[in-house]
Amino acid sequence: MTNIDELRADLLARITQSNDPRSILKADEIKQLYTVIPTLDPSERGSYGKAVNALKVVLEAAVVERESTLEDSTVVPLDVTAPWDVNATALQLLSTEQGTQHPLTRELENVIDIFTRMGFEAIESRQIDDDHHMFGALNFPENHPARDGYDTFRTEEGFIPPAHTSTMQHRILKAGKAKLEAGGNIAAVSYGRVFRNEDVDATHEHTFYQCEGIFVSSDATLGQMLGTLRSFFEVYYGQKLKIKTQPAYFPFVEPGLEFAIEKPAALGGKPGDWLEMLGCGMIHPNVLRAADIDPEKYRGFAWGGGIERLVMLKYGIEDLRHFESGKLQFLRKFNS
Ligand code: DAH
Repeated sequence: MTNIDELRADLLARITQSNDPRSILKADEIKQLYTVIPTLDPSERGSYGKAVNALKVVLEAAVVERESTLEDSTVVPLDVTAPWDVNATALQLLSTEQGTQHPLTRELENVIDIFTRMGFEAIESRQIDDDHHMFGALNFPENHPARDGYDTFRTEEGFIPPAHTSTMQHRILKAGKAKLEAGGNIAAVSYGRVFRNEDVDATHEHTFYQCEGIFVSSDATLGQMLGTLRSFFEVYYGQKLKIKTQPAYFPFVEPGLEFAIEKPAALGGKPGDWLEMLGCGMIHPNVLRAADIDPEKYRGFAWGGGIERLVMLKYGIEDLRHFESGKLQFLRKFNS
C-alpha cells in the first residue's frame, strides 16, 4: 500500500507539471502494479485491486484538470483586425520588416521644411484639375502652341491630371488677395505629383513630383527670387553654390528664366558643369489679373521644378525610373 501511496504522490506531481499529462497514465510504474497481482495472496488481491483502481480514478481526474488548464493558456484570441500575428512574440514583432519612408517622400519633406522655415506656407497640389488652372489662368492663350509643351493627359470628361504644380498658382493667388490688401505678402509652396504623356527613359517619367513656389508683395524683385532660390539650394545640398540663369519662355512669367547651379565637386562635378534645376521668373501681369490682383500695385515671382532631379544629384542616382519602380534593392539603400 505504501508503494501505491508513494506512486500516487509522485504521479500527481508529474501530471501537474506535464504538457502531455495523458501520457503519464501509460507510465510503466502503473503497468507494473498489475504484474504484482498474481504474486499476492488471494485474500489480498481484492483490496489491492480496489486500491489500484482508486489510484487510476484520481490520476484520470488530475489529467483532465491539467488538460483544461493547458487549454486555457494556449487558446489565443483571434483578432482579425490586428496588423500583426497575435501569436508572435515581442521579439519576433520587433524584427518584422515594417517598411520605411520612400526616399522621395523623405526628400520632399526636407524641401518643404526648408521653405517653411523661410516663411512659405506649404500646400499639397491637386492630382486632378481642369483646363483653367492648367492653362487658362496661367496666361496660355487658347490653342497656343505652348500648351503642347506639357504633354498633358486628359480624362474623357475633360479633367486634367496636372502636368505641373503651377496649376496651384491661381488658387494661391485668389486665396492670398485679402492678405495682400491687409498689407501682407503671399508666400507659399505647393508640392505634389504631376503627370505627363512622356516616353519613359532614364530621365523621363510619366509620373513625377514637383515643387512650386510663389511670392507676391508690393515690391517683390528678381533679386529676392534669386536670393531665395540660392538659399534653398545651399541649405538642401549643405554647401555654398554657384548659380546662373538664362532666359526661357514660360507664358506665366515675364521675364522667364531657367535657374542652374554648378555641380558641386563633392557630388562629382567639375567647374563649368551647370545643371538646370528649375524654371522661374516674375509673375506675368495677366496671371495676377486673372486672380483679381492689380499688377500696378503688386508684383511677384514664382518658380517650379522637379523633386527627383534634386534627389538624383544629391545621391548620385542615375536612373529616374528607380523611384516609381518599387524595387526593394533600390529602396533599401535609403534605410539608414
Ligand atoms: N511649370 C513649369 C514646368 O513644369 C516650371 C515653372 C517655370 C514654374 C517657371 C514656374 C515658373 O513657377 O515661374 O515646366
